[in-house]
Amino acid sequence: MLNIAVMVSGGGTNLQAIIDASEAGKLPGVTIDCVISNKSDAYALKRAEEHGIDAVCIRPKDYDSKDAYGAYLAKFLSERGVDLVVLAGFLVVLPANFIEAFEGRIINIHPSLIPSFCGDGFYGLKVHEAALARGVKVTGATVHYVDAGTDTGPIIFQKAVYIEDGDTPETLQKRVMEQAEWVILPKAIKEIADRHNS
Ligand code: GRF
Repeated sequence: MLNIAVMVSGGGTNLQAIIDASEAGKLPGVTIDCVISNKSDAYALKRAEEHGIDAVCIRPKDYDSKDAYGAYLAKFLSERGVDLVVLAGFLVVLPANFIEAFEGRIINIHPSLIPSFCGDGFYGLKVHEAALARGVKVTGATVHYVDAGTDTGPIIFQKAVYIEDGDTPETLQKRVMEQAEWVILPKAIKEIADRHNS
């Protein structure tokens, strides 16, 4: 069984895609142990609660340092036997001690075809604004392993989405979520679970 924790900061539509896939039987061998947010008002926490999943708010400002925050997160997840950490719109930069504690066991969803439009400052709508400003004809989403850099870890899956005439950052974000993010994130979790459980 692959025990996962999903870390969120916002609306949680990627979390919802994981929950929906699980409840539809598409993620056999996966348990969603908990959902963690750095924001107590993240709607993603409500989504978790509505599906009977432990929803926990763990805020960086409650800790004396980033390292203390990272150490607590690592301890919390290790004690729950979490095998895989899934960053689904988690906007806090995780400290090196956490990355090391879960080396090779953290994945992230990014709303572009890495290495385009990624790295520091590229998150949320900003990614789509940059893609439209550059005039690319194709964008998409990437699931990758998290390493010490920002959006620099090994790529697991990518899915392309075509820019359409009249796209705004908002319409593009919605299509990338629907057509790419919500497809490849559950797919990556299933692939990792199949390998873990084999
Ligand atoms: C998504 O666009 C994801 O690619 C990015 O942050 C956003 C999170 O959206 N990392 P949601 O909270 O999953 O709806």
